[in-house]
Amino acid sequence: MQHKAWHPYNSLPAHPKPLDIVSATGHNLRLANGDSLLDGIASWWTAIFGYNHPVLVEAITQQSKQLSHIMFGGLSHPAAEALAEKLAQQSPATPSVFFSDSGSVAVEVALKMARQYWQAEGAPEKKRFVALRNGYHGDTWGAMSVSDPDSLHQQFRDASQHTLFIDAPNYGFENHTNNDCNIQAIEACFIQYHQQIAAFILEPIWQGAGAMNFYQPSYLHAIRTLCDRYQILLICDEIATGFGKTGRYFAHQHTQITPDILCLGKALTGGMLTLAATCSSKKISDAISQNQPKRFMHGPTYMANALACACANASLALLDDMDWQPKVNQWQQEMTTKLQTLRTAAHVKDVRVLGHVGVIEMQSPQLAASVQPLAQAQGVWLRPFGTWVYLTPAYTMNSAEREQLLTTTTDAVLKAADTEANNSIMTSI
Ligand SMILES: Cc1ncc(COP(=O)(O)O)c(C=O)c1O
Repeated sequence: MQHKAWHPYNSLPAHPKPLDIVSATGHNLRLANGDSLLDGIASWWTAIFGYNHPVLVEAITQQSKQLSHIMFGGLSHPAAEALAEKLAQQSPATPSVFFSDSGSVAVEVALKMARQYWQAEGAPEKKRFVALRNGYHGDTWGAMSVSDPDSLHQQFRDASQHTLFIDAPNYGFENHTNNDCNIQAIEACFIQYHQQIAAFILEPIWQGAGAMNFYQPSYLHAIRTLCDRYQILLICDEIATGFGKTGRYFAHQHTQITPDILCLGKALTGGMLTLAATCSSKKISDAISQNQPKRFMHGPTYMANALACACANASLALLDDMDWQPKVNQWQQEMTTKLQTLRTAAHVKDVRVLGHVGVIEMQSPQLAASVQPLAQAQGVWLRPFGTWVYLTPAYTMNSAEREQLLTTTTDAVLKAADTEANNSIMTSI
């Protein structure tokens, strides 16, 4: 196939050439040449039930017969109202649900909401954001402005000139001390700037695309306490972490905190359609709704797309019905056991696992890139980037598939040491 379309984080034409996929069902991608690849990353951790799940296909089909899309300005529909209610049930602290069409836009909405809240409260000077180093919140301008400028967006560093960046917390979910997590430095920053700060945005527990790192719940708890003390809103970006990925429905539920604003996307539709939501506390929606201009100033054309909302309703019902937690726990146990064997390899820097996320940090990007063709030759699709080989598989793989994925990944990582020299660097996400 001749590729005319531009691919993410790539040149045109793309290098290396993308694989041509003709269909995707269950946990497999079928290539144009008839080969099949077991997908280890579920399309950037969205397709948590595998591809083309019949329940989701049926939900979209039925909805398309009734109503595919209507403008959300001045009109509403049952699929959106039901989804808003369901999300409010899952996160009672943030019952006001604003739909948008992608994760990045959900973050834009969160930032605008935080600023409009402080305008409504008579503190318009509170308009800066605090964010974590190694954080990633999307590729649009506002989302980039709170993402680590030294990671994927170096060409656009001016986007983040007003953001206050805090060093990323120490690695490790299990580390229960905050001694070296610079809490005092954060408080010093808050003392100096809190009158200018609207919100602190972070990915709870799992820093995804910018770090592939986990951190301890007590850190999140400490940040919430500081935000309360200095009147700073807390935005939890759960676009990557939501819907069970780290072993809790939402990752912030690893500790007893609630966010002021919660961003959701990715697995919301089980990987079928693009949809995101920015959920806020009633305090925020009331302040914005009751003070001039008495409305929130945002409204995407495809807001609350009915097909996507119907799919999300079916996806969340599927999640409720499937007993997801034992499945995610099983991934965590099996990955911990099987991937830990890689720790002793000299070309592997670290191995870490939480929920259905497994990360093998290699000593170099070349080594990580070498893993992809080796895994592909054994029928497995991985997409390493930077120094990370990572797994974010569908929750629903059977034991034979889990075994194939973990054995192939382990073998490919071990063999990578021999092939590194022949590989060109592949840093694309
Ligand atoms: C934590 C986080 N926030 C925001 C985004 C952006 O989402 P989208 O790619 O749907 O715009 C991502 C995407 O990877 C993400 O991981």
